[in-house]
Amino acid sequence: MGRNIAIDGPAGAGKSTIARSLAKKLGYIYVDTGAMYRAMALHFLRLGIAAGETERIEAACESADVSIAYENGEQQVLLNGENVNGLIRTEEVGNMASASSVNPAVRAKMTELQRKLAQTADVVMDGRDIGTFVLPNADVKIYLTASVEVRAKRRALEYEQKGMEVSLEQIAKDIEERDYRDMHREHAPLKQADDAVLVDTSDMTIAEVEARLIELCSEKKQENGDFFA
Ligand code: DC
Repeated sequence: MGRNIAIDGPAGAGKSTIARSLAKKLGYIYVDTGAMYRAMALHFLRLGIAAGETERIEAACESADVSIAYENGEQQVLLNGENVNGLIRTEEVGNMASASSVNPAVRAKMTELQRKLAQTADVVMDGRDIGTFVLPNADVKIYLTASVEVRAKRRALEYEQKGMEVSLEQIAKDIEERDYRDMHREHAPLKQADDAVLVDTSDMTIAEVEARLIELCSEKKQENGDFFA
């Protein structure tokens, strides 16, 4: 079993930025599980499947092979061998990922892949159900959150930097809908694990969040003696 750090939280809380830099500092592999659900969502969208079409989604799971690879330390998501990293960061794919991830067949497939990765390597894994369901025995569990307003502004900035046109109001609305769906689904909903540490990043800089997470890992190191690689 590798050493595992689980970071969960809602969309736009800063999980991927922080998880990526923490992994780099510790020499661990960063696993972005949202990207895997997004690759599945892209597969469904390409097949013209709507979010509520349960049977078609389950059948389409059979024809989707999602895997990950690393290029210059950056996670690449492969969908049936095609690198789809550049195609999955849109609101359409994100909303479909949230909607289709309620399906147990989709979750079972992604959970299996994530657990295999965490068994063989030291990972910082971010998502919605990592500390509660995928890796319940993770060494460190963090629940990262921020207010809807702050999260919407961060997402809008990300899109603007990519030259995409955005409406802050629409993004805030999407985030609220996504939060509701992710937190209220039947299987492995988003929630803080009992043993996770809550970090609200609304008024924190990236450097401050990083420092806090390093501090949490160091506390673990003192308990376990050899936590850092
Ligand atoms: O983190 P993200 O925005 O890339 O995730 C997209 C969607 O994927 C999210 O709204 C819900 C789903 N997801 C999930 O159900 N479980 C995870 N571990 C990660 C993401």
